[in-house]
Amino acid sequence: MGCQYFDPCDHGADTFTIAIPKVTFGRGCLAEAGARALGLGMNRVALFTDAALHQGPYFATVMESLCAAGLDVAVFDEITIEADDASVERGAAFIAEGNFDGVVSLGGGSVMDVAKASMLYGLHPVPDFLDYFAPPLGAGKPMPTELLPHLACPTTSGTGSECTSISVLRINELKTKFVLANPVLLAQQALIDPVCCASLPPMVVASTGFDLLCHALECYTAKAFTRWARVDDPNKRPLIQGANPWSDLAARKALEIVGEYLERGVNDAADTQARDQLMWGASLAGMAFGNSGTHLGHALSYGVTHLMQDITTNGYAVGSPFVPHGISVVVSAPAIFRYTAAGAPERHFEAAGYLQANLKGAAAKDSGEVLATRLIELMRKTGVPNGLSGVGFGPADVPALAASSARQVRAIANSPRETNLVDIENIYSAAISY
Ligand SMILES: [Fe+2]
Repeated sequence: MGCQYFDPCDHGADTFTIAIPKVTFGRGCLAEAGARALGLGMNRVALFTDAALHQGPYFATVMESLCAAGLDVAVFDEITIEADDASVERGAAFIAEGNFDGVVSLGGGSVMDVAKASMLYGLHPVPDFLDYFAPPLGAGKPMPTELLPHLACPTTSGTGSECTSISVLRINELKTKFVLANPVLLAQQALIDPVCCASLPPMVVASTGFDLLCHALECYTAKAFTRWARVDDPNKRPLIQGANPWSDLAARKALEIVGEYLERGVNDAADTQARDQLMWGASLAGMAFGNSGTHLGHALSYGVTHLMQDITTNGYAVGSPFVPHGISVVVSAPAIFRYTAAGAPERHFEAAGYLQANLKGAAAKDSGEVLATRLIELMRKTGVPNGLSGVGFGPADVPALAASSARQVRAIANSPRETNLVDIENIYSAAISY
């Protein structure tokens, strides 16, 4: 591919596959929902949202547009702030009973992820909820090849779920999030209207912004796709296939956007240029990591949300304990990238540059440090918690955090550097505070 990072390896993959939905982006485009749904062949629509959005103006815009297009709409809003198996079971029952021919989702990652999984479980039920999850957690049961057409409309600038074939769900009994990943979960179309971000509280913009940052950064520094084993059956090529030339393009641009606009978007709700750019960056990052996978940032975040101890931010209408997803990822990020830099120093150095790190006098060998320094600077300027201690954890929690996160096998294997349980413990220890 003309890039050293993707040099061929013995038995390594020599092919990658890209999947993204048809994307519409622009202020006011939510009003296209009816025409878009009609174009996807929908007549009877299941509209997924959450209870708060249900009362607000973006829901009204979508509902009005769907009704004006002559569509029959039923609303499902029983979705918790962290997408979980209970929300999916309710959503699956709604789908199973509703005789729908299409789904529209309006909300953050939780809403879109629940919409995806509700179609899967509602139309193709399985005896055990974990059956569709990959081993060792689940049975790895093959998913169907088709669900209903899905029009995804994000209302936050972080998750990128409108552009990914991924649904991240908390399994309540295990108190942990796990990932469902399959091409069938990809929405057919995404309607991305940055107007939705205008009213987000600063800490929601910060959390979702760091989520987008880490999606792009983990994607760009992931193990090269050529270092994953070649697959014989093209239909079995995994979505988490490693860094690749397509994901690089979108991740690079997303990093540049977040490097330039995160601080402005968090600290000034009236800065529409910054908030619009962050919305575009989130979707770009989704298009990127949805075709590469993330690695240690997200893997280690699941230990934090498993054992979360303290509410860390405002702007989220939930009780304690709660750590928003983006915060759970970024609190360990400086320590993670200090560790992974040795596995792909040039990539980390380039990424630091895209994020506007100070590279004066530095070289690739310093990439972990310059990247971590820039991340810490962005964390301070946007007021997010300073490491694990900022969300209630101390050194005594490290073994439990590491044991929990070590279960995220595929994401850990996507790290550019071989990573074992002791390495994870060392990273958490280095992430207590900065
Ligand atoms: Fe994420």
